[in-house]
Amino acid sequence: MKILAIESSCDETAAAVVESASNTKAKLLSNVISSQVEIHAQFGGVVPEVAARSHIEVILPVIGQALKEAHSKWDDIDAIAVTRGPGLIGSLIIGVMTAKTLAISKNKPLIGVNHIWAHAFAAFLTDNQPSFPFLALTVSGGHTTLSLYEQSLSRKIIGETLDDAAGEAFDKVAKLLGLPYPGGPAISAAAENGNEDAYNFPTANLGKDSFDFSFSGLKTAVLRQVLEITGVNPGAKYTQKSYRLDEQTVNDLAASFQKAAVKALVKQTQKAYLQFQPKSVVVGGGVACNSYLRTKLTQSIPGAIFVPPVLCTDNAAMIGALALQMAEKDLFTKPQNLLADSSLYII
Ligand code: KG4
Ligand code: ZN
Repeated sequence: MKILAIESSCDETAAAVVESASNTKAKLLSNVISSQVEIHAQFGGVVPEVAARSHIEVILPVIGQALKEAHSKWDDIDAIAVTRGPGLIGSLIIGVMTAKTLAISKNKPLIGVNHIWAHAFAAFLTDNQPSFPFLALTVSGGHTTLSLYEQSLSRKIIGETLDDAAGEAFDKVAKLLGLPYPGGPAISAAAENGNEDAYNFPTANLGKDSFDFSFSGLKTAVLRQVLEITGVNPGAKYTQKSYRLDEQTVNDLAASFQKAAVKALVKQTQKAYLQFQPKSVVVGGGVACNSYLRTKLTQSIPGAIFVPPVLCTDNAAMIGALALQMAEKDLFTKPQNLLADSSLYII
């Protein structure tokens, strides 16, 4: 089975062709990603209206390129998969409507895929295949979730963030430190030259039975520290332009923040691992690119499977990998039923 997959939930327009290999393994034939990062960097974050308009401009060429790189023609494609949510509504609609139009005009079955699930199922594109039931830590710009996935394609959410997502915390703290967008890679790079013990930032304690996360207290602690260092009156009106931090202080703050954020992620994941004893642990989503997280989590859970960095940030290959398993369960909508099918819009 060969699937054309489309992803447009945030600021990457992506298309991929994946094929079923042996057992659960998905073979990646092409993986095209057109990033809008440079467009949004000038605004310091994703502007939803701008994102949707950019998707419209590139989505058909990106799909064309994915087919070309996979040496595939429409006749070779058995089905289409598209991210149906969660994400920015304007961006999602571009992907869903494009996929639906193509499915009807090319006479292909279609399926809408959950983006968060797909971040975990990206692991099936690698040689290190997870076994069901597996525990997944999904850490992205919009979500931080611990979930248990069963082979029947059911999911139990074990824990979630109560406020900011992990990636959002990296992005906000980066902004506070005057580092560029996206903040995760910038913090990670600054932290390489910083002292992680320079500042003692807190990790949320949500109780021994909780698998949830909270990053807003950590973010506020970094802000307070920045104001204290720079002598800005917390009661006064200030912006990031009101103060200047020297490079070493930025590096130290970045390293100390990263240490606390990763400590929280590792602590909850290890607790869930010990309690639920899954067959595998998978870590995916943009923040899973973070090498410090990879090192620390591997020390706690040696067999943890990390999605390769190129498949951690948003991509369509992961949408295809999950769709292949949904195809096994016959969950696609046939092209003749697509006009009447509103399930794709349930985001
Ligand atoms: O999964 P993703 O590409 O998009 C969403 O679904 O949100 O994740 C993007 C997030 C951003 O917040 C970005 O700062 C973060 O992933 N990120 C990182 C790293 N690379 C990307 N966070 C920490 N360390 C990194 N190396
Ligand atoms: Zn994502």
